[in-house]
Amino acid sequence: MHFAVLIFASVATMTAFALDNGLMRTPPMGWLAWERFRCDIDCTNDPKNCISENLFIDMADRLYEDGWKELGYVYVNIDDCWSSMDRDKDGRLQADPKRFPGGINKLARYMHDRGLKLGIYGDMGTHTCGGYPGTTVDKIEIDAQTFADWEVDMLKFDGCYSNAVEQELGYPLMSKALNATGRPIAYSCSWPAYQGGLPPKVNYTQLGQICNLWRNYGDIQDSWGSVLSIADWFFENQDVLAPAAGPGRWNDPDMLVIGDFGLSMDQSRSQMALWAIMAAPLFMSNDLRTISSGARSILQNKMIISINQDPLGIQGRRILKEKSGIEVFWRPLSNNASALVFFSRRTDMPYRYETSLSKLNYTTGSYKVTDVYTDQIDVLKDSTEFVVSVNPTGVVMCKSSFSRN
Ligand code: GLA
Repeated sequence: MHFAVLIFASVATMTAFALDNGLMRTPPMGWLAWERFRCDIDCTNDPKNCISENLFIDMADRLYEDGWKELGYVYVNIDDCWSSMDRDKDGRLQADPKRFPGGINKLARYMHDRGLKLGIYGDMGTHTCGGYPGTTVDKIEIDAQTFADWEVDMLKFDGCYSNAVEQELGYPLMSKALNATGRPIAYSCSWPAYQGGLPPKVNYTQLGQICNLWRNYGDIQDSWGSVLSIADWFFENQDVLAPAAGPGRWNDPDMLVIGDFGLSMDQSRSQMALWAIMAAPLFMSNDLRTISSGARSILQNKMIISINQDPLGIQGRRILKEKSGIEVFWRPLSNNASALVFFSRRTDMPYRYETSLSKLNYTTGSYKVTDVYTDQIDVLKDSTEFVVSVNPTGVVMCKSSFSRN
């Protein structure tokens, strides 16, 4: 395979479509409340964890003070259950007055003062998935304007309680309405996830024109089984999904659950590696106030972040599926570099996988290969046989750059 040619072809098609708001030229990074904090609205008994302005302020403080912001984690995103059960007298959505006494615009200001961004959640339908007021077609303009007035930076637009016909109408209309406000608001569409994520029901060309990112598949949970089933679906459908992604338009396999309860350290490294290969949005859903140093160092790994954020924005692919249970993933990067992930589905012991760069389709030459988790550097010829030892449910991930012929 001639990687150089491949890259060139994808870049050429890539510039053709993409929502024209100039946002998210690389995958967005930040924090999103849902997976970890769900719809906990019991601020009386659980004041530290309930969905309230305090929770978002706490997370913003952590992003700002603990080195996350500098690495690119700038979005602080509200999910479901933020609003009051009723619209106001003018028909506008309003935040729950007890849990968000300062309103959403106070939170937006808080983020902007610190160089962070605020995301909010809405739902194309009669109700949100959690039963809060939704945005029916007749409410799209007023809701877009309300979010802009609050100075929100991103909208996740869910799709509970609407049918395919309403979604077909509503998702493009919301895109238009957001643009019409004049405020740059990144637009995350859950639409494909409600339509099975695949053509012919899902039109990825159209999605790239109206949305900056989109959920293709089901919700992530705090378990390895969930992470693996999501990764499997994305790589099984990579021929459809990878061409849809590019600067300004990203597939979203859902949040990072690193730092929660369900993943081992190896599995956490695997999620980070696979999400980076996929050019996925990196929205953590965890408690940044209590996160372990191990989880933090995985999420703050600079080389992996730079792979995820590569400016070419080409979504990587699975290139090998061995009978041994080892799988190899590859993503082309700018400056003649690329990323490799060796992943083990095994459940016995570390597996010694022997290969060479030429077996992985690299062209003739010498390459500088850096293990992103250990920082070990090797210079390998394409023909050099090498062994990687891959832990059960774990990965070895490297960045390689061409050094000479
Ligand atoms: C859906 C979405 C989740 C989350 C919940 C909120 O299930 O897919 O990401 O937003 O709704 O109720």
